[in-house]
Amino acid sequence: MPQISNKGVSMPESPIRKLVPFAENAYKQGKTVYHLNIGQPDIKTPQIAMDAVRENSLDILAYSRSEGSEVYRQKIAKYYAKNDIHVKHDDIIVTTGGSEALLFAFGSVMDTNDEVIIPEPFYANYNGFSTASGVKVIPVISKIEDNFALPPIEEFEKLITPKTKAILICNPGNPTGYLYSEEEIKKLANIVKKHDLFLIADEVYREFAYDGATHRSILQEEGLEDYAIVIDSVSKRYSMCGARIGCLVSKNKEVITTALKFAQARLSPPTLAQIASEAALDTPQSYFDDVIVEYVKRRNVLIEELNKIEGVQVAKPKGAFYCIAQLPIKDSDAFAKWLLESFDVDGETVMVAPAAGFYSTPGVGLNQIRIAYVLNTEKLIKAVHIIKEALKVYKD
Ligand SMILES: Cc1ncc(COP(=O)(O)O)c(C=O)c1O
Repeated sequence: MPQISNKGVSMPESPIRKLVPFAENAYKQGKTVYHLNIGQPDIKTPQIAMDAVRENSLDILAYSRSEGSEVYRQKIAKYYAKNDIHVKHDDIIVTTGGSEALLFAFGSVMDTNDEVIIPEPFYANYNGFSTASGVKVIPVISKIEDNFALPPIEEFEKLITPKTKAILICNPGNPTGYLYSEEEIKKLANIVKKHDLFLIADEVYREFAYDGATHRSILQEEGLEDYAIVIDSVSKRYSMCGARIGCLVSKNKEVITTALKFAQARLSPPTLAQIASEAALDTPQSYFDDVIVEYVKRRNVLIEELNKIEGVQVAKPKGAFYCIAQLPIKDSDAFAKWLLESFDVDGETVMVAPAAGFYSTPGVGLNQIRIAYVLNTEKLIKAVHIIKEALKVYKD
């Protein structure tokens, strides 16, 4: 039989999706499963975006320009200006989700065997994108005791080698919920300038900043124009994960010209979804205000309930809609499977994401889970109750 590639063999499984067959078995047994495992918000997509799709009268669903429709990019630039981020439409390439923007960024700035430093735990698919690009992830550990704040900058400095091409951050963080301060962003800006590295910031959760905090984009840093690459997406902002629209933003012309070649190779981002995403940009501020109120309510309930369980440690998120919880267990992978296969409270159980997949250092995060608070507070309370009861009887 012909052999598949070594790269294919090393592609990691998604820690979020790999438990799906176990959840399906749980459904077959008639159980209700509360999904705390995946960042699929239950928030409604803005009506204006749905209407734009329903009401459009296109005769041909044609390709768009590889960099995305110009009108849409002009509107994205205005959206950024409203957020005090000043870019032009030709600093933007529209992509098939933030996922493709990450692939384009990796492809544009890193060669095979180059290294990217990422504070861990990090969004698990960074592992997959790195493997697909032949790039090596060099993790720098951020700790639950520090709420997953930026590790000391000296820790980054120690890891820089001639192969290092970029530092990648996620702000606010998935899975940590940590929101980097302006001071932390400045530290990163200084180190990338000093060592001539790119700073890639995944800012797909920009709107989700809580407790009065404001998000600081790397594109707001003066002097970082040649170094900064932002990854963005409509998926979470407008609860439009299925639209598959994101973008890559950089003021570095060489980055844009290079990323555009990757964009040309895949021809075009989805046309219909660009129409929806363009319309979504007119979403009234009240939509976001309501969404933020809802997520803060959920976060508060979740953290309060988790803190009531003996032996559980949790970092309070300041943004996004995830948190990492440390449990009094040895192996959260086995625990997550067991919850689906062998445990329920009155026919109900939960699906969580084992956190080890969000680390690239082997053996770290084994006793942690990631919880996405994408369910309403009533369901969250039930789900945490199930975890509490489960921990009383679970044996590693
Ligand atoms: C941090 C982060 N970046 C990027 C993505 C990719 O999102 P999409 O490809 O849907 O835009 C996700 C999705 O969950 C994410 O959490």
